[in-house]
Amino acid sequence: MRKPIIAGNWKMHKVRDEALEFVYLVSQHVPPIEEVDTVICAQAVLLRSLVKRQGDNLRIGAQNMFYEDKGAYTGEVSPVTLEDAGVKYVIIGHSERRQYFHETDEDVNKKVHAALRHNLIPIICVGERLEERENNLTNQVVERQTVLALKGLTQEQVKNIVIAYEPIWAIGTGRTATAEMANETCGFIRSVIAREYGQEVADEDRIQYGGSVNPDNIKELMAQEHIDGCLIGGASLDPYAFIKMANYKKL
Ligand code: 13P
Repeated sequence: MRKPIIAGNWKMHKVRDEALEFVYLVSQHVPPIEEVDTVICAQAVLLRSLVKRQGDNLRIGAQNMFYEDKGAYTGEVSPVTLEDAGVKYVIIGHSERRQYFHETDEDVNKKVHAALRHNLIPIICVGERLEERENNLTNQVVERQTVLALKGLTQEQVKNIVIAYEPIWAIGTGRTATAEMANETCGFIRSVIAREYGQEVADEDRIQYGGSVNPDNIKELMAQEHIDGCLIGGASLDPYAFIKMANYKKL
């Protein structure tokens, strides 16, 4: 049985006071960590203060990091700093990073290795663009992204990752993939992991869906065989909506 993981990706939103208030409130209403992993991924400058407020059942994640531990890399955030701040998760290779900051599959792979070296669980984002889906290239794209992201990892390491399938055309558009469509691609990603690392590893790996998830559609998405969690953007900014989604079993 894979433990569900519900994560909010705040992107570039919220100042410190709002963020602290949110985390304080939400941490009291999320399910026990033994049942569901609940995560908030915030801007780097907020992480340390949020970790102090996370409580017993909520965990804090970063939205990006660099792959080197230290050095002359002006403006980058080191995995060492994240680990030191008590951060547990880090989103790697979000489509916005790939699109606006030109992150490649190779960068993603280096970041995944660096995250695991520093005890951070990488939430690795994969997903196709609209024209790729329309040209039946979805599987080809997510297969390439998944294989290259995990290149060089041991089977044990691959058990410690989370994949987030986020079709780019569903992000921030209000246009969600149907639950069946999302499940089909998440199942395909699992079959790629099984081929590369064995069925046992693939059965343990958690695969999230992301793209216009909200309190009205989360239950159906989470009911799918291959969807073990959601990575939520816009709808994660409202604490009451986030509490509902973390408690999707009760909806
Ligand atoms: P939305 O939920 O706003 O579509 O964003 C999804 C996303 O990019 C999460 O990482």
